[in-house]
Amino acid sequence: MQVIDLKVHYPIRGGFFNTIVDWVYAVDGIDMEFEQGKTYGLVGESGCGKSTTGKAIIGLEKITSGKILFEGEDVTRERRSRTSRFHREVQMIFQDSHSSLNPRKRIADILAEPIRNFLHLTPREESRKIGELLEIVGLPQDAKEKYPHEFSGGQKQRINIARALATHPKMIIADEPVSALDLSVQAQVLNFMKDVQREFGLTYLFISHDLGVVKHMCDTIFIMYKGRFVERGTKEDIYGNSKHLYTKRLLSSIPATTPVGREKRKRARKEFEKVYEKMIHKAFDQNGRVYDLIPVSDTHYVSAPSARELLEIGKESEMGGSR
Ligand SMILES: Nc1ncnc2c1ncn2[C@@H]1O[C@H](COP(=O)(O)OP(=O)(O)O)[C@@H](O)[C@H]1O
Ligand SMILES: [Mg+2]
Repeated sequence: MQVIDLKVHYPIRGGFFNTIVDWVYAVDGIDMEFEQGKTYGLVGESGCGKSTTGKAIIGLEKITSGKILFEGEDVTRERRSRTSRFHREVQMIFQDSHSSLNPRKRIADILAEPIRNFLHLTPREESRKIGELLEIVGLPQDAKEKYPHEFSGGQKQRINIARALATHPKMIIADEPVSALDLSVQAQVLNFMKDVQREFGLTYLFISHDLGVVKHMCDTIFIMYKGRFVERGTKEDIYGNSKHLYTKRLLSSIPATTPVGREKRKRARKEFEKVYEKMIHKAFDQNGRVYDLIPVSDTHYVSAPSARELLEIGKESEMGGSR
């Protein structure tokens, strides 16, 4: 899949005639490519445009401009139809596992819905298929007859994953799939998602506000700020050799796991905040817009006014930015 110069601008209406008074540039010109079977991370703070990106790709949000290519075909129009092939092969799961499950429906009916939309099965085949899906996500067969409220948060997210898997997708866009879960359950669900990926050769786009969460999962990571990318690179590029001040700041805010580490990190973070405040204006143009990406290597791209200035910003922020 390829995303080309995607933009999603929301109008802000106001005044007596409810006219458009301004725009929110939620997504403002991003490019992405996805290779089958790989995991991608989309990371940035709340409000930077991550969910809009996910929903725009899958067709839940109208796009202002740009193109989506899937297996070489332009699907920008097609993907908005609920019964399109694209819709079957690219699925999305959301952070709030609870509200995405209809409380009045039994699990069997929730899982049957995508199956009925896309596959033509006899009632018996359908029932067998639902049983298989429950098995894949590690839930007992009697879950079929139960309602969403009878399950824990982690189990509900498994049901959402089962529903996404029902149509044999090639790609899953997971919008903060574990953010609402307890820390211990988060790791379980993430590991489980990895297993599922291996089994089905799925491509993942993993959305998170926390660089710590995606660290062990992603092959390639996009760092988003105000609707644009400030940096993209492999796991090694981002965690071991980040260049953009904003990425470094996200890295410095990953919580430490030991108490001793925590104190050290807190001091380093304070130190780093000073550098950040002083330097961050250099990272954007006079309108506050993120500069285009400049390649630093085959895999690593950083937003900067020019290659020379990129090096300067990188150098000066090195002191506080190191982890
Ligand atoms: N339907 C909408 N109408 C107007 N503004 C919106 C709408 N949805 C999101 N936004 C705005 O777009 C920006 C990006 O939102 P979102 O994609 O939800 O960010 P994230 O998922 O990174 O937290 C935010 O400023 C948000 O307020
Ligand atoms: Mg979001």
